[in-house]
Amino acid sequence: MADGRAAAPRLGTEGPGRACPAAYGYGARALRVPAAFATDTLYVAGGLYGNVEALERLLELFASEPGDKALLFNGDFHWFDVDPADFERVTLAALAHRATRGNVETEIADAHEGAGCGCGYPEWVDDGVVERSNRILARLRDTAVRFPALCERMAALPMHLVAEVGGERVGIVHGDADSLAGWGFSQEALATREGVASASIAFDAANVRVFASSHSCLPVLQVFGGGRLLANNGAAGMPNFRGEPAGVATRISVRPARSALYGARAGRLCVDAIALDYDRARWEARFLAQWPEGSDAHVSYFDRIRNGPGFTVTQALRTALPVAA
Ligand SMILES: [Fe+2]
Repeated sequence: MADGRAAAPRLGTEGPGRACPAAYGYGARALRVPAAFATDTLYVAGGLYGNVEALERLLELFASEPGDKALLFNGDFHWFDVDPADFERVTLAALAHRATRGNVETEIADAHEGAGCGCGYPEWVDDGVVERSNRILARLRDTAVRFPALCERMAALPMHLVAEVGGERVGIVHGDADSLAGWGFSQEALATREGVASASIAFDAANVRVFASSHSCLPVLQVFGGGRLLANNGAAGMPNFRGEPAGVATRISVRPARSALYGARAGRLCVDAIALDYDRARWEARFLAQWPEGSDAHVSYFDRIRNGPGFTVTQALRTALPVAA
């Protein structure tokens, strides 16, 4: 995960935290499978990052939804939660609902040689961020080893799945349509001609109307032709916009959301970014108890936790394509 700040000068392309393990790859056609379940309303919460307060808010919002519903954690539900009690709480909550694994769960539960944090960071992310992420992952793994049974269950989670919402196929991934830690569904990639064209092809390969993703840590809701839509929720457990302290989850439903930061239609589905307006004071205190000033997570993320990234709702909601795709 990145901190949402602009790239700094020291950049690299190889080594732990940069390279993706071969086991992360699957290809978009791997999603051309029957739906694992069907529902009328689906919450997809990627990048909870161990934020217990955001988890509580998410569960409250989900509980208040009427009708048939499902909640899915699409990876990186862990990150800052090196406190064993928090780690156990987050794990049990994710496993009590539906979950796919992210690179974080994969690397703490079943580490790949030389993968580091498994983030597969692209070249625009600074080396310092990458090195700190590798050390955060190592510290989180020290907590995870206390829970071997839970790690076994996390390692067994799928990397992707297809849900049927209101009769429409929704592809759920952590990174992108090709890889667990792919950045093809990042707001940066989708701002390019190549990125949009590549994502458009993936819809056909996976035979889905909607893709829901996370991993790249900034949200984007990109509308494609043919009533298709890609929803990257950014981070459920960190602020996603300057001046807007909430985490974000994606809500996909046959019914409109009661409240949303922004949204769009995909066929008969309403796809909305919903705010997880968690208790900021409690979360900051919890974060600082685990990651005090000078620690790796504090250096990389505290500014974002307190102030949000330099990103706006207007930048996230993309109802027009940058090029024909
Ligand atoms: Fe990730």
